[in-house]
Amino acid sequence: MAEPTIEDYYLEERSFPPPPEFAETALVRDRSLYDQAEKDYQAFWADQAAALTWTKPWDTVLEWDLPFAKWFVGGQLNVSYNCLDRHVEAGRGDRVAYHWEGEPGDSRTLTYADLLDQVQRFANVLKGLGVTKGDTVAIYMPMVPELPVAMLACARIGAAHSVVFGGFSSDALRGRINDASCKVLVTADGGWRRGAPVGLKGNADEAIAGAPTIEHVVVVRRIESEPPMTEGRDHWWHELMQGADPDCPAEPMDSEQLLYLLYTSGTTAKPKGIMHTTGGYLTQVAFTHKYVFDLHAETDIYWCAADIGWVTGHSYIVYGPLANGATSVMYEGTPDFPDKDRWWSIIERYGVTILYCAPTAIRTFMKWGTQYPEAHDLGSLRVLGSVGEPINPEAWIWYHENIGGGHCPVVDTWWQTETGAIMISPLPGVTATKPGSATFPLPGISAEVVDDAGTKVTKGGGYLTLTRPWPSMLRGIYGDPERYKETYWSRFPDRYFAGDGAKVDDEGYLWLLGRVDDVMNVSGHRVSTTEVESALVDHATVAEAAVVGAKDETTGQAIIAFVTLRTGNEPSDAHGQVLRAHVATRIGPIARPKTIIFTDDLPKTRSGKIMRRLLRDVAEGRDLGDTTTLADAGVVDEIKRRAATAPTEE
Ligand code: WTA
Repeated sequence: MAEPTIEDYYLEERSFPPPPEFAETALVRDRSLYDQAEKDYQAFWADQAAALTWTKPWDTVLEWDLPFAKWFVGGQLNVSYNCLDRHVEAGRGDRVAYHWEGEPGDSRTLTYADLLDQVQRFANVLKGLGVTKGDTVAIYMPMVPELPVAMLACARIGAAHSVVFGGFSSDALRGRINDASCKVLVTADGGWRRGAPVGLKGNADEAIAGAPTIEHVVVVRRIESEPPMTEGRDHWWHELMQGADPDCPAEPMDSEQLLYLLYTSGTTAKPKGIMHTTGGYLTQVAFTHKYVFDLHAETDIYWCAADIGWVTGHSYIVYGPLANGATSVMYEGTPDFPDKDRWWSIIERYGVTILYCAPTAIRTFMKWGTQYPEAHDLGSLRVLGSVGEPINPEAWIWYHENIGGGHCPVVDTWWQTETGAIMISPLPGVTATKPGSATFPLPGISAEVVDDAGTKVTKGGGYLTLTRPWPSMLRGIYGDPERYKETYWSRFPDRYFAGDGAKVDDEGYLWLLGRVDDVMNVSGHRVSTTEVESALVDHATVAEAAVVGAKDETTGQAIIAFVTLRTGNEPSDAHGQVLRAHVATRIGPIARPKTIIFTDDLPKTRSGKIMRRLLRDVAEGRDLGDTTTLADAGVVDEIKRRAATAPTEE
């Protein structure tokens, strides 16, 4: 038999069926959606699309010319109409769309009627600046309500938006503006971060200096500053809005019209402008937001703690929740300002019922300790979500117990910028969850794990592939159809593959194993970083771990572990020995780390993913490659210092 593509070591046996009191009122309590989708997935998605308001019905559900998909062909609808007008027309204009809280503690409440008013006015502002259907508008903003307003205003008039995360540099912004030839940039004077105002307009100006297509810049005043304003080009948001016409009809859009571009920051290559279109995208984000989080829009208070600059924010702060008429919390700042209990205070004060966040946040909270959540009443919570990285089983349990009080289903949702919406996840009223597993593909989605040869794996590890088109799939990479084919559709015939490893257990559950580029080869065994990390986090003293393979003369690669301890635990050589032994008992001697480096922080991307590539450079003593996507460059220097003195086991 061939060697396994990725080996399967970590055994997690805990299982959590939906709590009966939860299942009783859940939107989905049985397998009927799965059965319906299994019979005819196109008819299933057509049913979901019918929950939206279309100004013209589609002729064909799906045109699939691999790898190019068109969904709901011939249909027309407007995304901002579906997110705003139809709720207001149905008499729900007074429902809160966003409870917004600024980092300094200021707050704003926007109802659906307020949001519709703002969006119409800003849509007219954009028109007045010459933006027309088919143009692309760049948006570079902190987490303020004007950000979703600007996105929806683009959608209202048929312009695409390209949101660039507010923490990115002027270079990153310039490259993205130029790639899409944006005419208008919407930005702010700055935002609040850890108690201090951080300017943004200066970066925007630097970017525009090398972006000749930009004709106008609209600036939201957030930090009461007076940045230089270029006459004729730069305009204050509040001044333009004052004179704006409050009526702007929603333009009907073709289902396949470009809704937005969102660039994935590849760590080495040029960023890819991921294209998302209108009808299929809105269908799948609305469907998944409703059913994965068991949304009861009249009563739930939903909070996705991501930044809108990432796809999670696009799909699950803006389009999914608004399409469903949900009430959301939106928060501007960091979790540790003014203290490490900010999130729990927000949950208590707004009565948040659904929380959606990333494992990196959960592991940070584990490191800080339970006294912060314990100081608040989190009893309103009923569903917890996770996204962005594999969640280590022990972090899952910590989240379940300390945040969810042991009674909230945890939905671990796997998806990507490219997939547009959640693909693999439990349905909380139906699926028995297992800590660390994203469980099964959602109804209408088909995923399979395959080996190197592309043969389906029914038990064990391999490559995660998607075998059918889905409504919110990327339509391509902006301006580069060849790169689209090559990147996602060339590794296995007729399958989408975007770089993740996964394993299937004997009950068919899917366990994500991280990026396949990170898989280590130790004495011929293909060991996933995720499994060793989970074994380390399984130890009661560990909050977070990152594992990499470094070249080794005897074993090919040796496992080097970077470990952050929970507050109150001291690093020592003896403790390193304890952790090595723990990994060996938990998953086997082959996975025993050769070196353990204790560190207070790990290098992460700005969206919170551990950058193992940099850690590999540190472990192999190389000069560091590109560090521009790093959230905090100081972390690496500290790690290098610690690595130089870390004891190594022979
Ligand atoms: C990883 C974020 C394991 C994965 C929505 C994927 C996950 C990449 C999970 C996409 C999860 C996301 N379990 N891994 N639940 N969710 N990932 O484009 O490697 O920022 O390919 O989209 O994050 O990241 P992106």
